[in-house]
Amino acid sequence: MLRRIPHLHNSKNLLQEAGLIRIFTKEAHSQSSGVIIMDGRHQELLTALQPTVADVTRQHVASQNLWMPSELLPKGFETQAISEATAAMLTMNLLTEDGLPYFLSLLVHHLGDEGALFEWSRVWTSEEDRHGAAIKLYLREALPQEQFLAVERMQHSYLTDGFWPKWENSPIRLIAYVVLQERATQLSHAGIAKRAKHEDPVLQKMLGRISAEEHRHHLVYFAFFERLFELDPTECLQALSKVVGTFEMPGHQMPAFSEIAYLQARLGVFGPRELADIITDVWKKLTIDTVSNLNESGERARDTLAKQIKTLYRVADRMDKQAPRTVDLSLLGIPSIVV
Ligand SMILES: [Fe+2]
Ligand SMILES: [Fe+2]
Repeated sequence: MLRRIPHLHNSKNLLQEAGLIRIFTKEAHSQSSGVIIMDGRHQELLTALQPTVADVTRQHVASQNLWMPSELLPKGFETQAISEATAAMLTMNLLTEDGLPYFLSLLVHHLGDEGALFEWSRVWTSEEDRHGAAIKLYLREALPQEQFLAVERMQHSYLTDGFWPKWENSPIRLIAYVVLQERATQLSHAGIAKRAKHEDPVLQKMLGRISAEEHRHHLVYFAFFERLFELDPTECLQALSKVVGTFEMPGHQMPAFSEIAYLQARLGVFGPRELADIITDVWKKLTIDTVSNLNESGERARDTLAKQIKTLYRVADRMDKQAPRTVDLSLLGIPSIVV
């Protein structure tokens, strides 16, 4: 049965309901013991995962189509005027990319600093770093000075706050999270690229390249998760349902995040519907419906996940029916938008 959805007054509540916004307090993400203690079962699973990681990383590197930000945006490149909504959504995507130092820290703490997993972490980091660099190059040219300065200030504040989800020290939850998050980031970049087609082809091309790479990352993490699922479907389903229950896009605590998240959801770039689609896709690819070797907690986690998908679609339907509202983008020095 679906959990009861309380009466929701506004879109911010809806996004919170969908897990796309969580109001984090500083205490909530700074309560660290400073030491990650991995339980024996998790250690066993990671050890068994290593050969898959080595293979997948090798294949990924062999098929790399590396571009550099200055190749996409050479010195003196010209931009066309972009809309306020595009500028705001692009800013949010830049800031999520800028969370990279925290992501690398999470990978190293949860997956270790040796072996195939660490090799993958380094490959991934070097690819991700170009995303933020390219978007920043673009925005530097496309935005008026005051607006770009506002972006830099947001970036600084975001990195000062940082983020450190605990995931109960489970590396399986970290991998489940990145499976979803890479695809979410892909959709978000691709959705803005689609809008940019009518605004600035340079931006469209750049986001197309970034989004394609996010898809490749999603496939890598999915391959890791698929192997873990073969080894321990109960553990994986528990991890997935817990991650979905608390899903947050990176940058969820950044200034203006809830306003821009609402904008992305309303414009069909990324919101609860897209998140539900992503989980449904993972569900189908892993044939979660028919997996039989689950224990009782695994069965429960599967039921929970099915309910979570339904809830996300219901939240998305409600959001679609909401009357337009004003999105406050004053932090970015952008006029408000009604959407
Ligand atoms: Fe990225
Ligand atoms: Fe990525």
